[in-house]
Amino acid sequence: MKKLMMVIGGSAMLLAACGDESEEAGDTMDPAEGEGLYEENCLSCHGDDMDGGTGPALDGYSADEVVTAIEEGPGTMPADLVEGEEAESVAAYVEEEAG
Ligand code: HEC
Repeated sequence: MKKLMMVIGGSAMLLAACGDESEEAGDTMDPAEGEGLYEENCLSCHGDDMDGGTGPALDGYSADEVVTAIEEGPGTMPADLVEGEEAESVAAYVEEEAG
């Protein structure tokens, strides 16, 4: 029984350590990372300053709305240009810069 507790305790420690690491790396909702992703994936249609081009200006969109647009691909916008954490980072960047 004592041995079992050690095993459980040990893996909980490991999990906690992993969690800390990813938080330090800042790989969720990171506007700085989002800037590069925006330039690669969105700028060609939404413009240098998000003031629009082929796509509309991105003023006033919340991060949630941007993630939804990325997933669904409204109109002629391609869906899933970026996914998961990358989508969230771009969305955080759009909300911060233009929202
Ligand atoms: C190939 C051109 C193109 C690219 C690349 C593109 N978009 Fe779009 N986007 C559009 C067009 C066109 C619309 C308008 C669609 C419509 O409503 O008919 C649009 C609409 C949107 C909207 C508004 C959605 C709404 O519901 O009003 C958001 C937000 C958006 N794009 C974000 C992004 C982000 C973030 C990226 C980069 C990951 C991106 N777009 C890449 C063409 C593009």
